[in-house]
Amino acid sequence: MSYPYQIKSYEAYKEAYKKSVEDPENFWADIANNFQWRKKWDKVLDWNFTEPKVEWFKGAKLNITENCIDRYLPEMADQPAIIWEPNNPEDRVRVVTYARLHKRVCQFAQVLKNLGVKKGDRVCIYMGMVPELAYAVLGCARIGAIHSVIFGGFSAQSIADRLEDAKAEYIVTCDGAYRGAKDIPLKSIIDDALIGNKVVKKVIVYTRTRTPVSMLKGRDVWWEDEMEHAEGQVEKNGTVSFPAEEMDAEDPLFILYTSGSTGKPKGVVHTCGGYMVWTNYTFVNTFQYQQGQKHFCTADIGWITGHSYILYGPLSAGATSVMFEGVPTWPDAGRFWEIVDKYKIDILYTAPTAIRSLMSYGLDPIKDKDLSSLKVLGTVGEPINEEAWHWYDENIGKKKCPIVDTWWQTETGGILITNLAGVTPAIPSWATLPLPGVQPVLVDDRGVEITEKNEEGLYKGNLCMKAPWPGILRTTYGDHERCRTNYFATYENLYFTGDGAMKDDEGFYRITGRVDDVLNVSGHRIGTAEVENAINMHASVVESAVVGYPHDIKGQGIYAYVIVSSFHGSEDETRKDILQTVSRIIGPIAKPDRIQFVNGLPKTRSGKIMRRILRKIAEGEIEKLGDTSTLLDPGVVDDIKKGKV
Ligand code: PRX
Repeated sequence: MSYPYQIKSYEAYKEAYKKSVEDPENFWADIANNFQWRKKWDKVLDWNFTEPKVEWFKGAKLNITENCIDRYLPEMADQPAIIWEPNNPEDRVRVVTYARLHKRVCQFAQVLKNLGVKKGDRVCIYMGMVPELAYAVLGCARIGAIHSVIFGGFSAQSIADRLEDAKAEYIVTCDGAYRGAKDIPLKSIIDDALIGNKVVKKVIVYTRTRTPVSMLKGRDVWWEDEMEHAEGQVEKNGTVSFPAEEMDAEDPLFILYTSGSTGKPKGVVHTCGGYMVWTNYTFVNTFQYQQGQKHFCTADIGWITGHSYILYGPLSAGATSVMFEGVPTWPDAGRFWEIVDKYKIDILYTAPTAIRSLMSYGLDPIKDKDLSSLKVLGTVGEPINEEAWHWYDENIGKKKCPIVDTWWQTETGGILITNLAGVTPAIPSWATLPLPGVQPVLVDDRGVEITEKNEEGLYKGNLCMKAPWPGILRTTYGDHERCRTNYFATYENLYFTGDGAMKDDEGFYRITGRVDDVLNVSGHRIGTAEVENAINMHASVVESAVVGYPHDIKGQGIYAYVIVSSFHGSEDETRKDILQTVSRIIGPIAKPDRIQFVNGLPKTRSGKIMRRILRKIAEGEIEKLGDTSTLLDPGVVDDIKKGKV
C-alpha cells in the first residue's frame, strides 16, 4: 500500500497547496480517485457559506467501512488493524487483524439489523475504550446508521439531553469501564439517563467489568448473546459477509456533540465521503505514515481526535492503530513509555496536557524505556507551551523526531493547520502551515482582513476560513440555523473558528486560543455558559459567572464566581454541593477548579457581566483591571479582589 498523494518535500507541499486553491475540484478528484467508490461523483464541490451549503463528491456512492476494512482484505488480512492495550498491564493484549475486524464489524452490523436498526437511525454509543467500541462505531457505519459516541465522563443528564436531541432509539454501552484505579458504572449511568425516556427501544450491553447491572426485559440485551447469534448468520462455509449499505457521499456518518459559547452542546454532523477523504489525507500527510508503522493516538474515541485518528484516518489508510484503555499515570507515570517500548510505536500523538502532567514526574519513568522506535511525535487539542514542546522533543523524541503541532476542531473533521512531519518546518508552539485545501484568513472584529502588522511584526486576528475543505461540518443535527449562526454568521462568507491566531510574513500560523466564551480544559472544550447553567441549578445559587484561568497542567482551569442566598453548613460544604451539582448536570469533567463566593458581580449599567474584569482577577492580574468606571457598582470589584481564592 502506497499513498500517491503523500507530500514528500517542502516544494511538493507548496505545489499541492497552490493547486488546491487554484483548481480545488481537480485537486480533490485526483485524491478521491484513490478510494473505493461504488459510483463516482457527479460534481466534486458545490458550496456557499450563506445558507451554508457544502457538498463534496455529490452523487458518489460508497460505504466507508469498505474503504477502512474490505479493501485491505485481499493483501493485508493478517495485518493488525487495532492493537488493544488494556487498562491493567497484566491483562491480555488483543491484536485485531483486518480479517478479524471485518468479521466483528459484519457481526455487529448483523446484530443491529436483527434489533431493527435501519439506515439513518441514530445509535448512541457510551462505552469504555475496548475494541468492541470500534466494532460498534464501524458496525453502525456498515449499515448506514448514524453513530453518536458520548465520552464516558459525561453525566446521565448530559446523555439524556443528547439522546433527546438526536432522537436516538438505540444505545450501545458496557456494564462498566476501567480507567486507572477507577471502575465507572456506565450501564447504571445509562439507566439514569433513560428514566422517563420513551424513545429508546434497545440497549446493547457489552460485559467488561462484570459489575452488577440491571437488565430490563424487552429493552436490554447482552452484546455477547447477540454477537453469538449473529456469527452464524454472517459466516457461511468459513466466509464472512455482511453487505455494506450503499451510502451517498453526503449522507451523515456521525453526530458528535460539542460545546459552544451559548446554549446546550450542539450535534456536529459529518458525512461519509468528505470526512473519509479528509481524515485519510490528513493522516497520511501530517504524520507521514509509512505502511507497517504503528500509530498510537492516546485520545478517547468519545472525542473527535479518537474518531479521526484512532479509527477512520488510520484504518482507511490500512494502518495499525494502537488503542489504549487506561490513563497515562496508572499504574505509574511510565505507562505511555512502556507502551511505546512494548509495541515499538512509530508515531505518538497526544495532548499537551498529558505531556505537562508527565513532565511533572521527572525523568525516572522514562529511564529504562526504549523509545528508539519513535519516528514522529504529535500534539493536539490546545496550544503547546515552549517548555512542554522542548521536553517532548528532548526526552521523548531524543531530538530526532519531528513534532507536529496539529490545530483543528470537532467541526473541521480533521487537521487543518500543522507542519508535515519532517517535510515542512516545525517551530515550537506554532501550528505553522495550512494543509492543502485550507484557506485561513485573519480578520478584525468587523470581519475585515488584517493587513497591518502589530508591534511584534505579526498579523493578529480572529481565525476564519475562506473556503470549504472536504471534512468541514455540514450542519448541526436537527437545527441548521444554529449551524449558520454559530459558524457562518459572525463574518460574511467566512467560517469562523472561535480561535484567535497570529501569522508571520511567511504565512506561518500561531494559535493563541479561543476568543469566545469557550474554555479549553485539558484539551476538552467546555462552554462557560454551560457551566454557569449547571451551577445555577443548585438550590442556593442566585447567580454565577465562569471564566478560565491559566493552569499549569490543564492549560486552563475553571474559575467560578458564585452568589448564594445562604450556605448549607460551612462554605466548604456548600462548595462541594455545587461541585456535585455540576457533576450531575454535565459530568465530572466540568467541575470548577475554584469557586469564590461573592456578594455581587461586576455589571455594566445595562446588566452585562464584565467578564474581562473577572478573567483578570482569576488570572491574578489584580492590578491590571483597566477601566472600571462604566460599572454599575465599582465597589463589587474591590470585594471580589479581597476574596480571591
Ligand atoms: O481552541 C482550539 C483548540 O481546541 C479547539 C477545538 O476543540 P475540540 O473541538 O474539542 O477539538 C479538539 C481536538 C481537535 C480549537 O478551537 N486547539 C486544538 N488544537 C490546537 C488547539 N489550540 C492550539 N493549538 C492546537 N494544536
